[in-house]
Amino acid sequence: MSIQRYIAANSPRFLDELVDLLKIPSVSADPAYGEEVVKAAEYVKEKLIASGVDTAEICETAGFPIVYGEKIVDPAAPTILVYGHYDVQPADPLELWESPPFEPVIKKTELHPEGAIFARGSADDKGQFYMHVKAFEAMLAEGLLHCNVKFMIEGEEEVGSENLDHFVQQNQEKLKADVVLISDTSMISLEHPSVTVGLRGLAYMQVEVTGPNKDLHSGTFGGSVANPINVLCKLIASLHDEDNRITIPGFYDQVQEYDAEYRKQLNKAPFDLDEFKRKLDVEETYGEKGYSTIERVGIRPTLDVNGIWGGYIGEGAKTVLPSKAFAKISMRLVPDQDHKNIARLFEEHFLKIAPPAVKVKVVPHHGGQAAVVPTDSIGYKAAEAAIQEAFGKKAIPTREGGSIPITALFQKVLGLDPILLGFGLDTDAIHSPNEHYGVANYLKGIETIALFFKHFHQLSREA
Ligand code: BES
Ligand code: MN
Ligand code: MN
Repeated sequence: MSIQRYIAANSPRFLDELVDLLKIPSVSADPAYGEEVVKAAEYVKEKLIASGVDTAEICETAGFPIVYGEKIVDPAAPTILVYGHYDVQPADPLELWESPPFEPVIKKTELHPEGAIFARGSADDKGQFYMHVKAFEAMLAEGLLHCNVKFMIEGEEEVGSENLDHFVQQNQEKLKADVVLISDTSMISLEHPSVTVGLRGLAYMQVEVTGPNKDLHSGTFGGSVANPINVLCKLIASLHDEDNRITIPGFYDQVQEYDAEYRKQLNKAPFDLDEFKRKLDVEETYGEKGYSTIERVGIRPTLDVNGIWGGYIGEGAKTVLPSKAFAKISMRLVPDQDHKNIARLFEEHFLKIAPPAVKVKVVPHHGGQAAVVPTDSIGYKAAEAAIQEAFGKKAIPTREGGSIPITALFQKVLGLDPILLGFGLDTDAIHSPNEHYGVANYLKGIETIALFFKHFHQLSREA
């Protein structure tokens, strides 16, 4: 049998196993789901063993465990380190889901005539990392596994991967490999297969603005003391200028600028602006002056408020001058901005622009560096060859706006090229209600991953 035939013959079971994994609500951000997160780790370990690894273990960390498994077919053969995450984002707001987030259903949609699996984590990242487990099973069963494989599937990606950072530093020998392969990104479409060659970094901050020491009657005191919500809004509004550039001094100092040729290539990727606007129901796009939408997302930094609260938000009207106001603010970063430096610049600036009538606290959350994938490596060429063979098309390199902070660490600590071979679509609604992953994407992904192994083995031998 061939890989394609093995996948076709086993696809109902491949889907069932994913469905069972999706039933486990492994939400890493919410302590209420702690046991479920651990259950998901155990399920992954079991499935790695059932699929044929030599060894699999649950590696405890200060937080949620890392599942590690490996199959060494030949110590002299090239080794592929597969990274993914079994934790998922919180499912809220629940009322906007058409079916419960942890009761997966397969439904046909306009974009997915063969069906898509609706569940939290279906595309990010359970459905994507599980393709690797099944590609591995298929290659092993068919006698086509010629690379060693090491799986490292973590449970804290959605909360910043801090313990994985430590694990990677401490286990460099164990994780020794020739390339790291990650499916946790999107492709343009099945018609336009692409490989991600860049991810943005992240600096995430929380700010707290305090006015008077308690909530006050907004008539008795209104106009006489600073309203922290008014002030916070003013401060936030001042963080962008007319051209939608960020006003924090020094923010752009390290930003890598690209020449006209690179920008031209980047903008060649198929992208339908009208369709983009239609899908999001917006009249116009919005962003930094002088850049296209592809560039704004791929190679330019941003600052966004993710949440803002304070005062009275219940039913009806309550006249109150609140004591406190809060906001969560994230900055997406590009090469060569350093997330710690940007967090510091933000804090300094925010404290400086606050009027003396309020007290301001700035607390940095997690962060991570941007990553760029070189396109002249064996790994990248293997990805191109795999896509060519699976899709009959040339892979389009894309820069994506999301962040996987650990990729930069793999480059720095393990010295490995990350290959971002994702099969999601940006319509999959990751982090959002009704997240889904195309069945065709899942099965095609399994096939492409197996072909990546084949080409990586061949190209490594020729090198
Ligand atoms: N898989 C995503 C990152 C992603 C999404 C990359 C879409 C490319 C396209 C990952 O799980 C994620 O959500 N990362 C977070 C950062 C993390 C530190 C919480 C993000 O990008 O917000
Ligand atoms: Mn992810
Ligand atoms: Mn995510």
